[in-house]
Amino acid sequence: MSKTMAKILAIETSCDETAVAIVEEGQRILTNQVASQVETHARFGGVVPEIASRQHLLTLNPLIRRALSDSGLDWPEIDALAVTQGPGLVGALLIGVTTAKAIAWALGKPLVAVNHMAGHIYANMLAPEPPQFPLLCLVVSGGHTELIYMEKDLEFQTLGATRDDAAGEAYDKVARILDLGYPGGPAVDKLAGEGRPVLDFPRVLLEPETLDFSFSGLKTAVMNYVHNCRQRGISYIPANVAASFQAAVVDVLVEKTARAVIAKRPATLCLAGGVAANSSLRTALAARAAELGVPLTVPPLSLCTDNAAMISAAAWPLYQRGEFGDSDLNAVPGLNLTDCGETC
Ligand code: KG4
Ligand code: ZN
Repeated sequence: MSKTMAKILAIETSCDETAVAIVEEGQRILTNQVASQVETHARFGGVVPEIASRQHLLTLNPLIRRALSDSGLDWPEIDALAVTQGPGLVGALLIGVTTAKAIAWALGKPLVAVNHMAGHIYANMLAPEPPQFPLLCLVVSGGHTELIYMEKDLEFQTLGATRDDAAGEAYDKVARILDLGYPGGPAVDKLAGEGRPVLDFPRVLLEPETLDFSFSGLKTAVMNYVHNCRQRGISYIPANVAASFQAAVVDVLVEKTARAVIAKRPATLCLAGGVAANSSLRTALAARAAELGVPLTVPPLSLCTDNAAMISAAAWPLYQRGEFGDSDLNAVPGLNLTDCGETC
């Protein structure tokens, strides 16, 4: 009789998506459930942490039941639980961590604690052509903009990081300036598609030797442009502002990534995080990767923003190593990627 493949049920509640997935051996998604809280938070213009926690509490158990029924599985067929330990909003994380610990304890199953940013990177393992090590990953989310180099599984080396705003944060702030509401990134992306990048916003590349990023100057330039136009009663074209801002962000992200590729010569280049859903970034990075002769892996669009399939994918190598959390496991809102593999 053939051995059945190990199935990990993962829970993700770090921010404003309640998510549950079951993935077989880090690669085959059996179910991927995401309950978005976007509508709940939209009227406040951003995520309200206390409301996020309460919403997770209401949604999580029904979503776990839905994941089981959707996959046609029952608890005895689940080999382990995985949960996002951090980084994220502490109250939101705690709902996932407490639930996962309770289920693992009640059923006597192992529990794997996962770093959310590792999850974003491991979303690439769910692509039709998974990446090879050593890999270089441009991680661009709401709270992070980093170039991560991985010689092998779970070994994360930070080559560069933002010194101020993350790329997603800059998108969200520009969306606010242009009154596009929340969430900002997809709205700016869509509007940019209707405009032309005719405005010359700064491309901040910092010192030649660094792979760090800085987006606060760009955000301020967009803000100044729009405020000046409004104050002086000059009409401006929001779609052109969005397109020009997006062109500047993408130029910087692609240029820095290219420099890191030249320095490290990875076997695969990857893209991860919510901003990886950006159409223009995906196109521009694919073009530069082809020029540099490095294979590019990008996660499917639905796995770029927060989901639990990526958490299960990142749990897989930890599960194989037998790195399990115990009843002391706690949420760590400021968890670092470089702690992963040792303590997470
Ligand atoms: O990874 P993610 O879902 O959550 C975090 O871990 O932060 O990333 C959310 C970020 C937000 O800033 C959102 O505006 C941005 O990703 N985002 C986008 C797009 N879709 C989501 N930014 C640009 N273009 C998009 N299509
Ligand atoms: Zn995320």
